[in-house]
Amino acid sequence: MPSRVQLCKVEDVGVGEVRKIDAGGLTLAVYNLDGAFYVTDDACTHGPGSLSEGFVDGDTIECNFHQGVFNIRTGECVRPPCMIPVRTYRTVVEHGLVYVEVG
Ligand code: FES
Repeated sequence: MPSRVQLCKVEDVGVGEVRKIDAGGLTLAVYNLDGAFYVTDDACTHGPGSLSEGFVDGDTIECNFHQGVFNIRTGECVRPPCMIPVRTYRTVVEHGLVYVEVG
């Protein structure tokens, strides 16, 4: 059974924004794409970049370290130098709160 980890309130992340959240032993990047929430690991798979400090463009996130780009919905690499997809999480919004399901 997956367990749910509460991350934040929906109003904590504005439309088109990303925010870093530490919860459940994970360091995550929470995105609001036109009111739909997505969550990935915060750590870039390429190096020391923190995706929550990057730039959201449509449904992609550009790492601020070497400008690698990931698809926020799928985690796949869209532009090098990153080559390894970033982990994405099943995200649930309920009663104004954002959760991920892990395990
Ligand atoms: S650390 Fe993110 S692209 Fe290099």
